[in-house]
Amino acid sequence: MNIGIIGGTGPAGIALARRLASVGHQVVVGSRELTRASEIVAAELVGSSTHSLKLLPGTNEQAAACDLCVLATPWEGAVATAKSLQAPLEQKVLISMVNALARVGSEFQALVPARGSIAASVQAVLPRTFVTTAFQHIPARELGLIDLPIQAEVMVCSDSEEGAVATELLVGSIHGLRPVRCGSLASANAVEALTAVLLNVNIAYKSHVSLRLTGLRESGSNPS
Ligand SMILES: NC(=O)c1ccc[n+]([C@@H]2O[C@H](COP(=O)([O-])OP(=O)(O)OC[C@H]3O[C@@H](n4cnc5c(N)ncnc54)[C@H](OP(=O)(O)O)[C@@H]3O)[C@@H](O)[C@H]2O)c1
Repeated sequence: MNIGIIGGTGPAGIALARRLASVGHQVVVGSRELTRASEIVAAELVGSSTHSLKLLPGTNEQAAACDLCVLATPWEGAVATAKSLQAPLEQKVLISMVNALARVGSEFQALVPARGSIAASVQAVLPRTFVTTAFQHIPARELGLIDLPIQAEVMVCSDSEEGAVATELLVGSIHGLRPVRCGSLASANAVEALTAVLLNVNIAYKSHVSLRLTGLRESGSNPS
């Protein structure tokens, strides 16, 4: 599948791009500056020369033209960036991995954006796009280390069945990640806010934790 990552040049976007490319997807790494995306993708390909990764640099517009898109900008720029891409994102699924957080002293604190979450704010400016959430809790470092296995549950929020299914399929295409449907975008506030808690765990324990749920049936990706 052809996947575009909007704001793909940061640690989170490039790590997800590497992981998705490692399982056979073609990924357009989007940026506000094509030259920046080109430099970052070139460095990735040199650093991963033992793998054959289908990574392409692009503008955010080119990323938004892909079949399925991921929003990976900082929260401050997420809504404006999404809104500027309204036309190419129409009738597509856009997965937000964005968290609204602030570092206050030695801890992270969740911020409360308009409508409770960045994902809901993005949905509000993209009424003809199927906005979902995923990947908020996966540390970029672990996501990018494609020679090492990764194991985590990935919380998926969506107002639409179409968005939920497409997101679950993408998450499930990465070995070791299990999508878990956890409600509509009304629940995205809790998912985004939990990231601050996990980051505080990482600070306290010098760790890189992800989320694991106990008690899920093996067919956890199918909620029925
Ligand atoms: N880092 C993690 O471990 C992690 C894990 C899960 C989720 N997340 C979430 O994923 C998102 C990206 O994280 P990150 O650490 O990769 O962030 P980042 O490096 O700060 O930003 C990612 C990219 O977004 C673009 N960007 C920066 N400011 C922007 C603005 N005002 N408007 C539009 N684009 C802007 C930049 O790309 P260009 O300059 O090339 O356009 C930048 O390389 C965040 O919302 C974060 O909460 C992060």
